[in-house]
Amino acid sequence: MAYNLLKGKRGIISGALNEESIAWKVALKAHEEGAEIVLTNAPLAMRMGEINKLAETCNAQIIPADATSVEDIENLFSKSTEILGGKIDFVLHSIGMSPNIRKGKSYGDLNYDWFQKTLDISALSFHKMMAVAEKQDAMNEWGSIVALSYIAAQRVFPDYTDMSQAKAVLESIARNYGYRFAKLKNVRVNTISQSPTMTTAGSGVGGFDAFFEYANKMSPLGNASAEDCANYCIMMFSDLTRKVTMQNLMHDGGFSSTGITEDIVEMISPKS
Ligand SMILES: NC(=O)c1ccc[n+]([C@@H]2O[C@H](COP(=O)([O-])OP(=O)(O)OC[C@H]3O[C@@H](n4cnc5c(N)ncnc54)[C@H](O)[C@@H]3O)[C@@H](O)[C@H]2O)c1
Repeated sequence: MAYNLLKGKRGIISGALNEESIAWKVALKAHEEGAEIVLTNAPLAMRMGEINKLAETCNAQIIPADATSVEDIENLFSKSTEILGGKIDFVLHSIGMSPNIRKGKSYGDLNYDWFQKTLDISALSFHKMMAVAEKQDAMNEWGSIVALSYIAAQRVFPDYTDMSQAKAVLESIARNYGYRFAKLKNVRVNTISQSPTMTTAGSGVGGFDAFFEYANKMSPLGNASAEDCANYCIMMFSDLTRKVTMQNLMHDGGFSSTGITEDIVEMISPKS
């Protein structure tokens, strides 16, 4: 059911790779809720072509941009305001990649060039997007900017390796740029810390299936799905959350506040 929560709003949505992507679901919902959107992803990711289907459904144009390139991001914002016919009301940063995770490097054996790449793609890109938006004065007053994070920013999940640091930096950027953008333009900046979700990025993490199942059993409401996450993003883009800023918002079915559950006890107790 649609509520017209984003009627008349213009947005940029990054990171829709395929139907499983969290950003894919956000784009569909933003369109359903009345927003006009532009889609963006790394030029390399576009080669698979799946994003064209989404663009057609959402009546959206696609602007390729490598999120580590300030030049690409400048082009993204200037073209988006042109295509959408005005300043931007909301931005979704849904970008993450660790070459160290991809290559199965353990935490004690990280390649430091790749570590920097992880930070650049998954965290600094968020700063770059906001700095470009500020310099171009591309955001509307009371706009909303959201990036997706994970609880490994606060707690240890050994297979998440250097992405843990990337998420910690991402959340810190949200607080610091959130302060700046609030003062400048009443724009809010938050991260949503999402449950493990079956996507390309998610399932690239070692032991993901066990990880997913464990989180599900440790969350009294169960894991939040990509679609649940999309609903939360829409609420954050809407005018109903104008005073929420500089927060890391847990969207995890209760995982982060739970010590143990009956499901976990049952799983590890010897059967009598
Ligand atoms: N899946 C999970 O379990 C989970 C949990 C919490 C947070 N998140 C976060 O959600 C976000 C979206 O991930 P997802 O799970 O939907 O997976 P996904 O693989 O569908 O999305 C990741 C996206 O990042 C894009 N990307 C990678 N390098 C890029 C670059 N240089 N420039 C521009 N885009 C680039 C990819 O093309 C892809 O579209 C990520 O930040 C991820 O860390 C995921």
